[in-house]
Amino acid sequence: MTSLNVNGKTVTVDADPSTPLLWALRDDLQMTGTKFGCGAALCGACTVHLNGQPVRSCVTPISAVGDQKVTTVEAVAADRVGKAVQTAWVRNDVAQCGYCQSGQIMSATALLKTNRKPSDADIDAAMAGNICRCGTYARVRAAIKDAARALA
Ligand code: FES
Repeated sequence: MTSLNVNGKTVTVDADPSTPLLWALRDDLQMTGTKFGCGAALCGACTVHLNGQPVRSCVTPISAVGDQKVTTVEAVAADRVGKAVQTAWVRNDVAQCGYCQSGQIMSATALLKTNRKPSDADIDAAMAGNICRCGTYARVRAAIKDAARALA
């Protein structure tokens, strides 16, 4: 049994300690907002926060999580910055197929938590690990700027 702090609640998962956090979230906790994309930390679809930092949950074993706070897209709107990002995403109609979007939102939220006025270069650097097969990058950038304005 491994104890995790997910979205402010202590939960227990009955899984091997080497199990990636992604699968503990999806299969053991039925939190399917976090997506499996590549399984190799190359696409960003599985991005969640550990103590506010974006991490790739597909390569993060639950044994490495410890008592760090896991935040997933299911709870991102509970936070003022996350709520602003989610609202901006809807307002800018960012999603196309949507598969990558929870990871995009988690990375964008982590960026705006530390940088309230990101430049294009800041956005590109923070979002470089989040691949979108539909090519929504221009709308992702517009939504991040929109959220930054809303938070100003
Ligand atoms: Fe389809 Fe990004 S919206 S992969």
